[in-house]
Amino acid sequence: MSSLFPKSFLWGGAIAANQVEGAYLADGKGLTTSDMQPKGIMVEPWESRTGDEFNIKDIAIDFYHRYEEDIALFGEMGFSCLRTSIAWARIFPNGDELTPNEAGLAFYDKVFDAMAKHGIKPMITLSHYEMPMGLVNQGGWGNPKTIECFERYAKVVFARYQGKVKLWLTFNEINMALHAPFTGVGLKGKPTKTEIFQAIHHQLVASARAVKLCHEMIPDAKIGNMLLGGLVYPLTCHPEDVHLALEENRHWQFFGDVQVRGTYPSYMLRYFRDHGIELVISEQDKADLKHTIDYISFSYYMSGCVSSDEEITKAQANILNMVPNPHLKASEWGWQIDPLGLRVLLNVLWDRYQLPLFIVENGLGAVDKLEADGSINDTYRINYMNDHLVQLEEAIKDGVEVWGYTSWGPIDLVSAGTAQMSKRYGFIYVDRDNEGKGTLARKPKASFNWYKEVIGSNGASL
Ligand code: BG6
Repeated sequence: MSSLFPKSFLWGGAIAANQVEGAYLADGKGLTTSDMQPKGIMVEPWESRTGDEFNIKDIAIDFYHRYEEDIALFGEMGFSCLRTSIAWARIFPNGDELTPNEAGLAFYDKVFDAMAKHGIKPMITLSHYEMPMGLVNQGGWGNPKTIECFERYAKVVFARYQGKVKLWLTFNEINMALHAPFTGVGLKGKPTKTEIFQAIHHQLVASARAVKLCHEMIPDAKIGNMLLGGLVYPLTCHPEDVHLALEENRHWQFFGDVQVRGTYPSYMLRYFRDHGIELVISEQDKADLKHTIDYISFSYYMSGCVSSDEEITKAQANILNMVPNPHLKASEWGWQIDPLGLRVLLNVLWDRYQLPLFIVENGLGAVDKLEADGSINDTYRINYMNDHLVQLEEAIKDGVEVWGYTSWGPIDLVSAGTAQMSKRYGFIYVDRDNEGKGTLARKPKASFNWYKEVIGSNGASL
């Protein structure tokens, strides 16, 4: 057995504060967009909370109180990296305070120390699908003041954790703002295209300012972006379909283009012109955008197809405007499984940017069955991940530089899209159901030992 994975390759898992921590009002934390979305990120949020509504994320998997046990289990699997996020509202509860909340900062100190104890490097996302409601109520990312608040937050966490965290990411799946503007850029109601792109512009500027700060404050750290790797194929070889696929792919590539090249690509300027979108972009914004990222991170779960045939699209398209690929099977949640797509995407990103890549999310959401003897035999998850990792190795053979792989949800957590516990991704089972019943006890699944072996052999066991 030999492995092509570099010796320095980072193996691990990825979680996010709002999907694991719970303790949604503990130690001074403010309310966030996620606290307002009991049905998941695609569903219209509450305007306010009265206290009696059920939101499974209020407790989630109680990582806030159980992080030591969970991190020890990750350590047992041999993780060298754990990606998680800081909940901005633990540090600045309303978002616009001038001084941070010490209790929030102290919590992440303890989490990072627990990781260090197990030899696990933290990779930290500054904002993963949540922002303080205090800022949303002032216009979210539509309000340029949010840029300064984010900068203050970034400065505080860089200063506090500079000795502990050397891998940073700015905004989770930044391109998702186009599909879920409340989640992505904190816009309420039904914003116009111009409002969405203006808010995205502010977020891109904030991301670049965080990059600048990180480079100045922690010179030995690396900071990247995070894209939803929405690889799109043409449904047929009809040139109209091929052209549509090019345009759809540019809808996510545009974010990477700005974050890597420091300027808006010409195809996007045409898109703005064609759609009557006029953005306010200052000279200072243009200068800020020049602070570009060190590496590209992305999530990959599935690929999709687009069709120029309106009838097909109307009848079959999902929320991302994608129609099913007749050559692929899908998960129980309809996500089409395409391991080779991962190799394609890695090559596309490498050819386009020539920057190191990091797969920070990949995995299978599935219903797991607890057998009578207490075991969970999730061979479907092992197969999914094995097939994807084999394609990752192929991409490394193609010459693509990949720094690491963190699977999504190494421990069962609340799904972002549908706020369900039953959509499980973990190597570790958590005893909690969609109604919040269960002991929250943790239990390794069959995939736990499989992943441990993959990591232990640096991929040679695949
Ligand atoms: C990504 C997000 O979109 O996909 C995660 O960054 C999310 O937060 C993951 O959990 C899987 O999606 P879901 O809806 O199955 O949780």
